[in-house]
Amino acid sequence: MEIRRAEQGAHSQFRRRLFHLPKARRMALPALSQLQGGPRVIQFENVSKVFPSPDGPVRALDGVTLQIAEGQFAAVRGKSGCGKSTLLHLAGAMALPTAGRVIVAGKDLQNLSPIERTRFRGQTIGFVFQMFHLLPYLNVLDNVLLAALPGQEATARKRGGDLLEKFGLAHRLKHRPDQLSVGERQRAAIARALVNGPKALLADEPTGNLDGESTAAVLAILSEFHRGGGTVLLATHDEAVATAANRALELRDGRLVT
Ligand SMILES: Nc1ncnc2c1ncn2[C@@H]1O[C@H](COP(=O)(O)OP(=O)(O)O)[C@@H](O)[C@H]1O
Ligand SMILES: [Mg+2]
Repeated sequence: MEIRRAEQGAHSQFRRRLFHLPKARRMALPALSQLQGGPRVIQFENVSKVFPSPDGPVRALDGVTLQIAEGQFAAVRGKSGCGKSTLLHLAGAMALPTAGRVIVAGKDLQNLSPIERTRFRGQTIGFVFQMFHLLPYLNVLDNVLLAALPGQEATARKRGGDLLEKFGLAHRLKHRPDQLSVGERQRAAIARALVNGPKALLADEPTGNLDGESTAAVLAILSEFHRGGGTVLLATHDEAVATAANRALELRDGRLVT
């Protein structure tokens, strides 16, 4: 954090000095977001999400403004109920905000029809859930291939097979999820999330049901995706898990505090 603040301070001093340069030279200089890893992949502008409930409206997110640049690995921490899942669902185009704007890979999600949003999600985002959400009656390979985009089945079959092999599941392709350990289930679910070559991986408490060894394996997979240029947004209540990321965010009662 300290380092980031120092970097930002140095950068803004640097930009202030630039205003003594001719405009043409100023324009050629990179923006801070580019120095921090490229254009923004996820952008929240004053986003709120309110759910109706029998006890009155629940403000799950309250005026969240946030930018995640391409190639960042960010962890959003916070206690149960602080809004982590809601934030990831909005970033993953699975829900729309009550107020504010969510822009993902340059697209304002509110301007897309439900069908366009589904297609966009399939092309751009991989989502990993705490409870895996594999279909119980399909084997591992079919679970992964079910996520393939229409027209991309052959590419997905190759990529999916390669991922499952890399994740140590080559001998489990025909197994149903209930025939796997929980660590294997989560690795299969990550293969499904990566099968269309997404820009960003959103992982909601992906290690919440795993033992130490499986947690390390999952974090290693997320880190490798990040090292290959992917953007990762991980939600966790576990500080040790959050250290896998290189940017820390914290939610309290629906508000971003860091
Ligand atoms: N579909 C929903 N309907 C009503 N309230 C909800 C719904 N989803 C989440 N909430 C509420 O919004 C708040 C934030 O939830 P959530 O984003 O799941 O938090 P976290 O993932 O940090 O545990 C909680 O108070 C939760 O009860
Ligand atoms: Mg949650």
